[in-house]
Amino acid sequence: MTKPEYDIYTDGACSGNPGPGGWAAVIMHGDKKEEISGYEKMTTNQRMELQAAVEALKQVPPGSKVRLHSDSAYLVNCFNQGWMTRWEKNGWLSAKGQPVENKDLWEQLAELTTKNKVEWIKVKGHSTDRLNQRCDQLAREAIVGAGGAENRENKTGYAGNEEACPGPDHYLSENYSTMNDKAPGSKTFSVNPKKRRIGLLTGGGDCPGLNAVIRAVVKSAGYSYHTEVVGFNDGFRGLVENNAGLIDDLAVSGILARGGTILGTSNRDNPFDYRPSGSPDYRDTGLDRSGDALKNLDNWGIECLVVIGGDGSLLLAHRFSELGVPVIGIPKTIDNDLPATDVTFGFDSAVTTATEAIDKIHTTAESHHRVMVVEVMGRDAGWIALHAGMAGGGDIILIPELPFDYSCIVDKINERNRWGKKFSIIVVAEGAYPAGTGPVYKTKGSMERLGGIGETVAREIEIRTDMESRATVLGHLQRGGSPTSYDRILATRFGFKAVELFSEGFCNRMVCLKGDKIDSVLLEKAVEGSKQVDPAGELVKAALAVGTSFGVPLEALS
Ligand code: F6P
Repeated sequence: MTKPEYDIYTDGACSGNPGPGGWAAVIMHGDKKEEISGYEKMTTNQRMELQAAVEALKQVPPGSKVRLHSDSAYLVNCFNQGWMTRWEKNGWLSAKGQPVENKDLWEQLAELTTKNKVEWIKVKGHSTDRLNQRCDQLAREAIVGAGGAENRENKTGYAGNEEACPGPDHYLSENYSTMNDKAPGSKTFSVNPKKRRIGLLTGGGDCPGLNAVIRAVVKSAGYSYHTEVVGFNDGFRGLVENNAGLIDDLAVSGILARGGTILGTSNRDNPFDYRPSGSPDYRDTGLDRSGDALKNLDNWGIECLVVIGGDGSLLLAHRFSELGVPVIGIPKTIDNDLPATDVTFGFDSAVTTATEAIDKIHTTAESHHRVMVVEVMGRDAGWIALHAGMAGGGDIILIPELPFDYSCIVDKINERNRWGKKFSIIVVAEGAYPAGTGPVYKTKGSMERLGGIGETVAREIEIRTDMESRATVLGHLQRGGSPTSYDRILATRFGFKAVELFSEGFCNRMVCLKGDKIDSVLLEKAVEGSKQVDPAGELVKAALAVGTSFGVPLEALS
């Protein structure tokens, strides 16, 4: 069969055979994951295996291509070896002329498989497949949750625990008169008394609004979705080292306005290429510790990992999703360079900080008749420089998207002098550079970090004009402090949306802002490329219209 439209994983479980039974299925359709489960008061394991397949197939539209993954030899053999077709032809009589056991379900299954193109896959007995394991867990929870063995008998009556299970006779004689009647009040689907669990980590550079997202995830999970949150400390390092704990409501109280992240973060740790903490040289080859991360997720019973991060962390999240971990991404970066969202949280706060700094630097520029250069962050994108430059009234804005020419900068400074403006403000992005050269880096060991272009520009101004020039590097000030109200709101909307996606069964998506709406995109799309300033775009046009120079000839922008 070519790629199926639906992958269905099923399992059944029984407390003794016959006994109270549960069944469950996980239905994967593209990036959508749905879990269903149910319970029968008095049944057999085989019947539960069948029930899981029947109920799951009922969920898919007729005509769908379906691959069913079951760990039941009973089911798979009956289907694959043509028994089911034979029985159907015989009017559901076995070779000995006896009615086939579970005839009602086989009939339904025959009808459902005729309607759909179904292929069966047997997964290794007591399955090693993560999604089949999940079904097993849900099926067992369904038994207990619907008042099954444990509640009724005050015993753990799971299969595999025969001593604790009172056994078939008990159920047949005392408590249950009919086979297969559903427990009073039990729901067919999603009998899940236990709180669900998601994991949460913050990765990459810190950024205002991280705590606001953590708070939104923890509060909406707890208040609205019966879900608890396990926080991994220090980004992916915590996931590998199992440095983690439950985050309760109290832990997120009062953090909305606080900068940084209560979980800690790291922009160096990669579970697939893992080095000891503080490794001096990041060119050293690391170890693949992703297996440890998977084990930790399993041990915590985490159904979905929520990763708050920029491009690097989201790429790692995507790699975990390829290993079968359901993941949801939340886009964070002051740089605003992620293409799948109009805005990342943290950007507005960084721009606000940079704007305030430019406002203050105006004082010295004016008083001393100097050219003041303000270097802002942003990596290879000029978003912070452009926004803060426009908001702070920068006379010259230099961005990586428009490699500049010193003679244009000098022309602008001289033009201002002629108009009686004996000072100028230059806002330069850390990734900006003169045409024909490349970005300026500071090197430490094997690590290269952008930085230094502000000083270079100030030096050149002093050489090329008779004015004094000074550079100020805003650096990590832009990542610190309290998030703006815009970022607090965006962070809250993102956090809530991530939990909502999880509860609706979506995974492997990143939440995003499109226009004024919160939406989501496939994670694999979200990690493609980066978003840069459009030199021909409306923002640049508006800045030019009010006399701002980009350090390039005007013709270059038309
Ligand atoms: O991506 C956010 C950012 O602040 C960039 O703007 C900057 O280039 C980089 O991180 C600095 O990283 P670090 O804190 O590791 O020096």
